[in-house]
Amino acid sequence: MSQSGKDSALPKSGIIAVIGSGTMGAGIAQVAAVAGHTVKLFDNRPATVDKAIADIRAMLDKLAGKGRMTAEEASAAGKRLQAATKLEELADASLVVEAIVENLDAKRQLFSSLETIVSDACILASNTSSISITSIGAALRVPQRLVGMHFFNPVPLMALVEIISGLASDAQVAQQVYDTALGWGKIPVHTKSTPGFIVNRVARPYYAEGLRILNEQAAQPSTIDAVLRESGGFKMGPFELMDLIGHDVNFAVTQSVFQAYFTDPRFTPSLIQQELVNAGFLGRKSGRGFYRYDGSQPIPDP
Ligand code: NAI
Repeated sequence: MSQSGKDSALPKSGIIAVIGSGTMGAGIAQVAAVAGHTVKLFDNRPATVDKAIADIRAMLDKLAGKGRMTAEEASAAGKRLQAATKLEELADASLVVEAIVENLDAKRQLFSSLETIVSDACILASNTSSISITSIGAALRVPQRLVGMHFFNPVPLMALVEIISGLASDAQVAQQVYDTALGWGKIPVHTKSTPGFIVNRVARPYYAEGLRILNEQAAQPSTIDAVLRESGGFKMGPFELMDLIGHDVNFAVTQSVFQAYFTDPRFTPSLIQQELVNAGFLGRKSGRGFYRYDGSQPIPDP
């Protein structure tokens, strides 16, 4: 891990654009706004941007209520959040963090459009969980300015950020994004663009073995989760964690890693999870996954 300090971090005056205002984009926007940046949030479903901004402001008020920040700080951070209704409104961004659907073509298309809008000095970053930064960059006119900036869920609470360099990424750009993440109170690590990077590579067997145990009807998700939490020392068991991540996202990541490793059977996607996606049982965000959700309390499926 580099210990370069915050030398090359983007100044607070730098505008951050976040594209995709779902689970991850909203969290990234919150962290960047609290760190002092003006944040422009864009989504191809504009209503989700308004909801994300309202939710973040409510969250900031809650944090102020708990004494984690002052009411003035919460209000100022909330005011730094802006809804963008067109990509063109992101023209003055210093850093764009993309957090849209986990799909190579969608990401390539978005970054290609962005390159016609932002300045050449603007840094482009993808929050992808597993897709090759090298492959996304291959669609760009200036691939040197693209890196992965992979946050973890929930973004305001999780310190780790993987800074991912593709074959064409400029080392100075990676360092600037690293230093920026450090300045936002995160713990960044540099890594290269391999399938799943570090965390999603190591985590695949955690989900896969849990799903195999379930497939063999050896135990229910709640039992497996409890064992991993209480005896294994993990913060969350594999099923509650997949429910938190979202099955659409988690399944797409497994498929991406499986394909990228030439269909290595270790990474074979689960039919159980595919059915959850088919049903729209995406986890917490849809109200049902392996568990049902009533408010914030998971209720194990019978
Ligand atoms: P999400 O489904 O909650 O949000 C994605 C948002 O992107 C949606 O609001 C959707 O309307 C928008 N969107 C889709 N295509 C778009 C486009 N072409 N232009 C503009 N907006 C578009 O997904 P989530 O969970 O926030 O994931 C986003 C990215 O972050 C994915 O690449 C995922 O792999 C990655 N990620 C997800 C984590 C998780 O735990 N959910 C953890 C770390 C990374």
